[in-house]
Amino acid sequence: MHIDPLERTWVVVVGLLTAMMLGTIFYTAWSGDIHPPSNVEVIDSTRLHLTEEFAEDNLGAKTQPDGSVRVTMVATRYGFYPQHIEVPVDTPITFRFATPDVLHGLHIPGTNVDTMVIPGFVSEVNTVLQNTGTFPMYCNEYCGLGHHDMWSRVTITSKQG
Ligand code: CUA
Repeated sequence: MHIDPLERTWVVVVGLLTAMMLGTIFYTAWSGDIHPPSNVEVIDSTRLHLTEEFAEDNLGAKTQPDGSVRVTMVATRYGFYPQHIEVPVDTPITFRFATPDVLHGLHIPGTNVDTMVIPGFVSEVNTVLQNTGTFPMYCNEYCGLGHHDMWSRVTITSKQG
């Protein structure tokens, strides 16, 4: 079979580019500890405020008996509640999010916390945060006219003791 040398060159170039792009994706995913959320847990979004976990008084960060921290938050048009949470650095943290209205996204820049919050499901993210400081937590899925204003803050504190 005859293949034109120019065509052969371009097949190689395209092959290399594809390998480079896939390599970049896999390397970034591996080095940043990025992976698809694996938690599938359903919840009745219309009754969120009546559940024990997502009732207003039970939201926020709570230290568990084993020293890990569990953060429960509600993402709703247009904010994450509570609007400011404090969590310790270098500690296993389980974030749990639910929404009573529409699809939201949730991202904390500089960390691997990035998930969609889908009506009818609980989004769970397990992580260990590495840097202290105050970071924004913002919505990265268009959810309505106030989308650009939907954010809250996470303060990562150094460990006590
Ligand atoms: Cu919530 Cu965009």
